[in-house]
Amino acid sequence: MENFLNESEFKLFRDLIYNESGIHFSDSNRSILESRLKERLRNTEIPTVGEYHKLIVSDKNELKTLLDTVTTNLTRFFRNTMHFQTLENHVIPELIKYKQEKGQSRLRVWSAGCSTGEEPYSIAMVLKELVPPSIKCEVTASDLSLKSLMTAKEGFYPENRINNIPDKYLQKYFDQKDNGFKVKDEIQNMVAFDYHNLKNKSGQVNLDIIFCRNVIIYFDEAAQKNVIENFWDSMNNHSYLFIGHSESLFGMNTKFEFLKTDWAVIYRKFIN
Ligand SMILES: C[S@@+](CC[C@H](N)C(=O)[O-])C[C@H]1O[C@@H](n2cnc3c(N)ncnc32)[C@H](O)[C@@H]1O
Repeated sequence: MENFLNESEFKLFRDLIYNESGIHFSDSNRSILESRLKERLRNTEIPTVGEYHKLIVSDKNELKTLLDTVTTNLTRFFRNTMHFQTLENHVIPELIKYKQEKGQSRLRVWSAGCSTGEEPYSIAMVLKELVPPSIKCEVTASDLSLKSLMTAKEGFYPENRINNIPDKYLQKYFDQKDNGFKVKDEIQNMVAFDYHNLKNKSGQVNLDIIFCRNVIIYFDEAAQKNVIENFWDSMNNHSYLFIGHSESLFGMNTKFEFLKTDWAVIYRKFIN
């Protein structure tokens, strides 16, 4: 079958998307880029790829929409149970002890590439259960998909999206309404959602935990390294990083230490 984009058009869009977001389309996933572009052309009623390229170069909003269209936003509550067991049984108890010893009263978490909000809300529920009120928890959650962020901010999930939530959390932290479930204010208020492109520095500092799972898998090595180095700069001297189970910092020559817990492998930044 003939390609929708000729070689030079493919390179033009591939490079533009990579430069703007770190997302890398190779020859093997070219068809995904082509089908998402087709969708944008249809929705904007622009007849040719060339004209559409002119539009995204001049119109930042359309560029944002295109980036939104090419992202994969699949997620679920408590995704990768072993990560949440690590959070509950290792990371949070260890951080509480550390903060109490140091007299620190804030615990800051960032869900980077939070998609529609299931990940940061899962983290917030765990924090609510385990962290004593003397330590104030703040969760920042960011993404470059504006569509996903809108769902995340609303905090409403249809019944088929709440399967993974343990019963005790569902009963305690959600209200049932209109064939779905709405996150209660006490959890929603713990999470601040924000538009952020991981290509850029976030400006965040003193983070205790970063979750960036199933995001850098779409980046090439150079873009992955850039993101991971930015994370290092944003994190406390005693902090933890969770990446997706099919992602790895192996061979990246980063300063993070590899940490094998009883549940999962994560990374940490421990500087005395
Ligand atoms: C597959 S979802 C992962 C969601 C969640 N972290 C999880 O593991 O379930 C990947 C998310 O990363 C976001 N993303 C991709 N590239 C990004 C970038 N350059 N900056 C910020 N977010 C990005 C996408 O919009 C998408 O919502």
